[in-house]
Amino acid sequence: VIDISKLYAQGDVFTFDPGFTSTAACDSTITFIDGEEGVLLHRGYPIDQLASKSHFLEVCFLLLYGHLPTASEVEDFEFRVTRHTMVHEQMTKFYSGFRRDAHPMAIMVGVVGAMSAFYHDSTDISDPWQREVASIRMIAKMPTIAAMAYKYTIGQPFVYPRNDLDYASNFLHMCFSVPAENYEVNPILSRAMDRIFTLHADHEQNASTSTVRLAGSSGANPFACIAAGIACLWGPAHGGANQACLEMLKEIGTVDRIPEYIARAKDKDDPFRLMGFGHRVYKNFDPRAKVMKQSADEVLDLLGIEDNPILQVAKELERQALEDPYFTDKKLFPNVDFYSGIILEAMGFPTAMFTPIFALARTVGWISQWKEMLGDPKQKIGRPRQLYIGETLRDYVDVENR
Ligand code: ACO
Repeated sequence: VIDISKLYAQGDVFTFDPGFTSTAACDSTITFIDGEEGVLLHRGYPIDQLASKSHFLEVCFLLLYGHLPTASEVEDFEFRVTRHTMVHEQMTKFYSGFRRDAHPMAIMVGVVGAMSAFYHDSTDISDPWQREVASIRMIAKMPTIAAMAYKYTIGQPFVYPRNDLDYASNFLHMCFSVPAENYEVNPILSRAMDRIFTLHADHEQNASTSTVRLAGSSGANPFACIAAGIACLWGPAHGGANQACLEMLKEIGTVDRIPEYIARAKDKDDPFRLMGFGHRVYKNFDPRAKVMKQSADEVLDLLGIEDNPILQVAKELERQALEDPYFTDKKLFPNVDFYSGIILEAMGFPTAMFTPIFALARTVGWISQWKEMLGDPKQKIGRPRQLYIGETLRDYVDVENR
């Protein structure tokens, strides 16, 4: 007879912690969150200051290298990223293997995973130079890859990057310009896009980042690790929430239907949840949601989209939920994705593109965490334990006797 309890005596400590709600798998110097106080700091700097004063590539530099860049450092970094915005021409053919009605996240998982087949000169993780090149390549190419996924699904020709544009403007250009027309990037939209990227850049050990670290802990190449992160992000409880949230707000449609949906969210027998509400760590407010709400107001105002019915529904839903003890007792507040979809839709993006945009913004966080992990001598291959609750030892039964 096997004494199963003995198995769990191996090692000094054995904890059973489904969902890792209280287990740290690493130490990190990148991002600090105080969920009770609604604080989010990147390398010590508050997210609201970064979102209002910085721009995305500066935040990328901060996450990757640990300090805000000087003017010459940021210029050099922008140059290095810009040089890598094109994708291998052979990759453009890779897209045509997908169905046109594929979800762009499905395409992203495949194309990013396939990057290791196109850029195998930067897959040797033991070489710091190759790690650096792979990092810059991914930050630079992700907007191109996401925009190409979008163009492919709507049947339009790919638009190549324009390296005279800044990161956010270039992404908008690749998504919305068509060869027959003269597309001018609206600076208001470009600034809003950049802010959305900044607000999603990193968020310490969330599900997708932990996935990237776990994949990387086995020594997998960086492109494979980021593809794993994209796959994890896709779920509606994580990055897929922005798409699910806007679809929910549209389904609600008018403010008079809000009580019906709040009642559904509270009903234990109904699997429905208020999308864009709740967070594993934030139990007071999500500081990113505050900036995002303000940004939604600004963007719609500046675009002259007044009285947007979906924004009205969102604001009223937030108001009613925050007056309801069900939500306040469980500490459920709007998260970053509650308002982001409204901005993205106003920019002209279909809902299916919301999560790819999150993925491209989060890429720098994934890479920073992956690099940090590789540089940490304490890091071992990630290997969670389990609590076995199945059958104990029993004899095999021949098929005629079962
Ligand atoms: N609507 C209604 N009830 C909710 C919601 C919600 N959005 N979120 C949590 N609850 C309830 C649960 O039913 C549970 O109730 P119970 O204690 O009576 O069983 C309680 O609050 C705790 O919920 P958990 O799922 O245990 O909390 P957890 O920390 O595991 O989940 C999560 C956090 C996944 C974000 C959850 O709040 C959720 O599903 N929200 C909706 C999806 C969403 O917006 N995800 C985006 C997260 S942010 C991001 O990834 C960028």
